[in-house]
Amino acid sequence: MRVKSVSTNPIAGQEPGTSGLRRKTAVFMEPGYLENFVQSVFDAVGGLAGKTLTAGGDGRYFNDRAIQIILRMAAANGAARVLVGRDGLLSTPAASAVIRTRGTDGGLILSASHNPAGEHGDFGIKYNIPSGGPAPESVTDAIYRRSLEIDRYQILDAADVDLSTTGIRTLGAMSVEVIDPVDIHAGIMQSLFDFDAIRALFASGFTMRFDAMHAVTGPYAKAVLEDELGAPSGTVLNGEPMADFGAGYPDPNPVHARTLVELMTGPDAPDFAAASDGDGDRNMILGRDIIVTPSDSLAVLAANAHLAPGYSGGLRGIARSMPTSRAADRVAAKLGIGAFETPTGWKFFGTLLDAGLATICGEESAGTGSNHVREKDGLWAVLLWLNILARRRESVREILNAHWSEFGRDYYTRHDYEGVDKAAAEALMADLRRRPADLPGRRCGALRIAAADDFSYRDPVDGSSANGQGVRIFFEEDARAVFRLSGTGTAGATLRVYQERFEPGSGELGLDPQQTLAPVIAAASDIAEIHARLGRLAPDVRT
Ligand code: G1P
Ligand code: ZN
Repeated sequence: MRVKSVSTNPIAGQEPGTSGLRRKTAVFMEPGYLENFVQSVFDAVGGLAGKTLTAGGDGRYFNDRAIQIILRMAAANGAARVLVGRDGLLSTPAASAVIRTRGTDGGLILSASHNPAGEHGDFGIKYNIPSGGPAPESVTDAIYRRSLEIDRYQILDAADVDLSTTGIRTLGAMSVEVIDPVDIHAGIMQSLFDFDAIRALFASGFTMRFDAMHAVTGPYAKAVLEDELGAPSGTVLNGEPMADFGAGYPDPNPVHARTLVELMTGPDAPDFAAASDGDGDRNMILGRDIIVTPSDSLAVLAANAHLAPGYSGGLRGIARSMPTSRAADRVAAKLGIGAFETPTGWKFFGTLLDAGLATICGEESAGTGSNHVREKDGLWAVLLWLNILARRRESVREILNAHWSEFGRDYYTRHDYEGVDKAAAEALMADLRRRPADLPGRRCGALRIAAADDFSYRDPVDGSSANGQGVRIFFEEDARAVFRLSGTGTAGATLRVYQERFEPGSGELGLDPQQTLAPVIAAASDIAEIHARLGRLAPDVRT
């Protein structure tokens, strides 16, 4: 076996400020593209000599080839060992759990999250640091700088490693430990939640569907829900991971998980339903005739977390991304614990979790998690809901109604304008950014602007700062609109508009948030001139 040192042209990899590299699969399959990124990571973290890594992905097309390339490159770069999930699979939260539990020097996760997979779909890769979380900007910037100057990568000339069964293999001088992708994560779930109570809930006839959307969570959900907790087989739908995710779009939202939504509004609705995304970090929660918005879910989970053994001592603090509704802040205030508002992206929660300032975190984009790992965790959120349902023995709807009567309700909706012209979207944002000073006082239909700014954040733990994180417009009527551009798309630009309004007292469940929020939606599209600038009359996705 010999180490090849292959010369490569610099390929501009991930843009600074993004936490991973996400591109069309075909781009990743160009000779040297993946290799350039992987070598840049290895170089940026000070080399791999003697180190141990974790590697795995969501099983999408090219996952199997990419894992073999990574293994051969790790061996050529002198790594001592790589822990890899059987068949190259690891959900994102499970990878984080493996990195932390086994104390590896970080890991490589192969995924483009919920983006469609396949030869014509998307692929992605990111490096997670030894705490188990996405690399902070200092590290991703170093990877990016290295990717611009790199002129060679090292790879071992060797055959593929058999990843189809667990066990220890060798690759040159490196060992490859093929682990069960589920075990470590499932063990953590067992330690946090009252499995006996959930078992009793299922035994009492409680029914549930979990839609794994043909992505990576199928095996995790089956192992825990069906095998461990006694949910009948068939509880997990679309549980076989497929390289093209069954030609679907594994983003658990009302548009892409429509079948589940229809089930929950139909005559055969089970008591509870949930879905997860391509790499298992996102979640969607549904009850009969009700979709729980991620912002409400975070608030309900925080308010009830003490019902789960892992959180019975109470929470230290709650963190949410800026565009997430303020419902969680109301819970934090009542509990007398810290509330943190961070920029969009899980990486900003890492320092707060490490420092013990926050226990539970969430994003409006269907991400919820806690200090048990350093990624959001779809199955974790589902199990915490189950734990709460098992202890309260009320329906999802009853739990939400009670929550809203206690805390008031933050009506919320996010509108996405996908695949719009990038220059036009950037100009829209640039103009909004220029205007915060002259917006206050302006009337927009029934609303009046109280304040406006471009969100900036200073990390209370490490003092690092992040600017330009989204334009916020606050209205006098306790409403808010937020504008930002997506950083995870691979075609054109996506404008996200987040709209919310607080109503104290009962939540008036019958009301459709789109109707309740109509004045805020109208004001937002008027202020940003969405129709004139983007040529769109309506968003592509409303969540
Ligand atoms: C989206 C979500 C964001 C999440 C990220 C990764 O990013 O909005 O909350 O952290 O995916 O899952 P965006 O495309 O908005 O930049
Ligand atoms: Zn994801």
